[in-house]
Amino acid sequence: MEDWIAVGYLISAALFIFGLKKLGHPKTAPFGNQLGATGMLVAVLTTVLSMQVAGNANWELIIAGLILGSLIGYWMAVKVEMTGMPELVALFNGFGGAASALVALSEIQKFIADSTTVPEGLELTVTMVAAGLSALVGWMTLTGSMLAMYKLKGGIEVFGKWIKTPTWGPTWLNPVKILLFLGVIALIIASIEDPTNEQYLWAIIGISCVLGIILVLPIGGADMPVVVSLLNSLSGIAAAFTGFIIGNSVLIIAGSLVGASGLILTFIMCKAMNRRLIDVLFKSFGGDGEKQSLTRTKVGSDADEVAMMLDGAQKVIIVPGYGMAVSQCQHQVKEFADLMKEKFDTEIKYAIHPVAGRMPGHMNVLLAEANVPYEQLIEMDEINSEFPDCDVALVIGANDTTNPAARSGEGPLAGMPIIDADAARTVVIIKRSLSVGYAGVDNDLFYMDKTMMLFGDGKAMMAGLNTAVKEI
Ligand code: TAP
Repeated sequence: MEDWIAVGYLISAALFIFGLKKLGHPKTAPFGNQLGATGMLVAVLTTVLSMQVAGNANWELIIAGLILGSLIGYWMAVKVEMTGMPELVALFNGFGGAASALVALSEIQKFIADSTTVPEGLELTVTMVAAGLSALVGWMTLTGSMLAMYKLKGGIEVFGKWIKTPTWGPTWLNPVKILLFLGVIALIIASIEDPTNEQYLWAIIGISCVLGIILVLPIGGADMPVVVSLLNSLSGIAAAFTGFIIGNSVLIIAGSLVGASGLILTFIMCKAMNRRLIDVLFKSFGGDGEKQSLTRTKVGSDADEVAMMLDGAQKVIIVPGYGMAVSQCQHQVKEFADLMKEKFDTEIKYAIHPVAGRMPGHMNVLLAEANVPYEQLIEMDEINSEFPDCDVALVIGANDTTNPAARSGEGPLAGMPIIDADAARTVVIIKRSLSVGYAGVDNDLFYMDKTMMLFGDGKAMMAGLNTAVKEI
């Protein structure tokens, strides 16, 4: 039976790896997701089987946990709006970290309850270090992710009153973070000397919870997605540490995969925003969450006027952003592209900024849902050189990702590479008002002479534009 358990874990680990590989392309991603989910099912069944073999399976608890967990997971996945996905991911990261830390805690509680089970020598050192690090990373991930979730939401409603999530990070907080981190390391070393002393464990948990909060508290604006991705990576690392404590190979493999892929994504996002990870974590940059007040005005255009300007356009680049996700106008956008191709044989491309929307790949997912061909979705670095040759840049609900203020080197968007929509011959922007985007910075693009603003909800404006184009 031991061999079958090892084979079960091997199959699930292989499914995770193949699933991850398939996630690399939008076309194969749904299958990759299914492979990963099957891998998780195999891992759960194998673990339950191994507990049955060891004679410690508590079936009432296992079945109750499975039913409850499946129902909550299903309900949350069905209920969540596409725009709420980052919050859900942040919450799941936190729960993942906490689950790993709880398993590690229960293992250490066994030593405390019965000191004869305490391992010796190197095994004791490895166990206590893994348990301490699992607690540090796991609890830090829980509190950090909960705060990240509320920061992404923008606040929390208490008795009908909306309380904005604070962003606060004086520079003296950085040495405090380092001191607390060193304190946890010292407590882990002390716990190796005295493994049955419960005080160390609770002190590590308490400090780790505080660390999670003060690590995320100063971070704001456009840096939040990086933090959520980093916390995702940390939840995997916590699982891998716990895998060492309970000697579970699939937990070590799955945890390492999550840890490594989360870290790679973190660095990709840092690169996309031209930020160093160390700056994201330790420089409270643009983090006060204050939105710039608007002093300028701009007269709006109407759909007929824009349609007339589009008449005979040879090349149009569509720049989607968060507003397209909110208004769910991806189908109207695809209809527009088809209409332009049919009527004027216009070349249509989509400019995809790596952090457009609220989660990595947000625009790709929405446009794929509307059957936009993958070949038309062009990454920012590749498409930017095409804007000077393009007749119209049609910006739909994108703001920060097109904001020339990012080039100035100052403010919350400083240094973030942007889509060069301002280089197009004419710019059309669809959004409801002149208001700022996620990072709270006013956008010069709106006020340029060559810019036409179509003020209104994305779906209604795109539908109106399509009607006007049809009538030309
Ligand atoms: P944003 O800068 O967030 O701007 C979106 C714009 O959409 C808003 O200015 C809003 O203007 C408009 N909008 C909202 N609802 C709309 C509707 N129903 N119809 C039409 N327009 C609507 O968008 P972006 O350019 O995509 O930039 C994304 C930002 O989010 C970046 O700062 C990025 O760093 C951050 N972020 C990204 C992620 C990831 S991983 N993608 C995760 C979290 C945060 P009105 O109110 O005037 O309509």
